[in-house]
Amino acid sequence: MSFISELSHRDRVFDFLTPTLSPVDVRHGPILYMDGVTVTFDGFRAINDLSLTIDDGELRCIIGPNGAGKTTMMDIITGKTRPDTGSVWFGSRHNLLTKSEPDIASLGIGRKFQKPTVFEALSIFENLELAMSADKRVFPSLTARMTGETIDRIEEVLTTVGLTRLRHRAAGILSHGQKQWLEIGMLLMQKPRLLLVDEPVAGMTEQEMERTAELLTSLAGKQSVVVVEHDMGFVRSIARTVTVLHQGSVLAEGTMDQVSNDPKVIEVYLGEGA
Ligand SMILES: Nc1ncnc2c1ncn2[C@@H]1O[C@H](COP(=O)(O)OP(=O)(O)OP(=O)(O)O)[C@@H](O)[C@H]1O
Ligand SMILES: [Mg+2]
Repeated sequence: MSFISELSHRDRVFDFLTPTLSPVDVRHGPILYMDGVTVTFDGFRAINDLSLTIDDGELRCIIGPNGAGKTTMMDIITGKTRPDTGSVWFGSRHNLLTKSEPDIASLGIGRKFQKPTVFEALSIFENLELAMSADKRVFPSLTARMTGETIDRIEEVLTTVGLTRLRHRAAGILSHGQKQWLEIGMLLMQKPRLLLVDEPVAGMTEQEMERTAELLTSLAGKQSVVVVEHDMGFVRSIARTVTVLHQGSVLAEGTMDQVSNDPKVIEVYLGEGA
């Protein structure tokens, strides 16, 4: 019974993971464009005139103290939270503020939440297969035979996330870090154009963090990746451009060295007692 309820819960997640339908036009600029975005929760401005762009294929790190608005920013991009003002565009064609959460996922924006939500009882291979499945209410092997294309895609993703050797083992035996990679793999099955990853290395061992750094770095270029993370060592190991959020706005942006030497940034982190 618990498996069934887990399956139905997972269904709701998979409803957001339908294949990309419309091309994203990045010929005239960034893949993600946010301008003048403001969100107020009960009078509290969590996002305050936020403007930010992400280039196609870029790996961007977002840092900032607790409550800076990092997760809320992802909620806005994915349609979970609607801003009071501002614009949010995916390429130059798609105004995300007019789209539903499932439509935004279909356009090719994948989101990884902090807690991994894989099917522990299914194999790693089957988890990936399920992420690809057209009918997300039924476990696919029971209903249809896999196409060669699906198998190829699963193998490709297994290689990318480094789980080929374990592909027929139950996902439940995986370490916390391996489950995180599997879940990234499940998002990759949909070939997203933009991946949003919130605090991926929390709870990981040093070795898992290194492997995650390699994985996220290898994804950049093929897709755009936005990583929110508190672990500065990890951010330093992957960062090209770092954006520092504070009180819902961009406080600083640049290389890790530039932002970490910025007096405004130092003040914010020291003020936090970090
Ligand atoms: N649904 C909500 N209702 C009310 N307040 C909210 C809601 N979501 C977020 N907030 C508030 O907005 C602010 C920004 O929160 P957010 O979760 O985006 O911060 P964060 O930068 O992700 O922080 P952390 O690093 O701790 O994850 C916080 O003060 C939070 O309490
Ligand atoms: Mg957060």
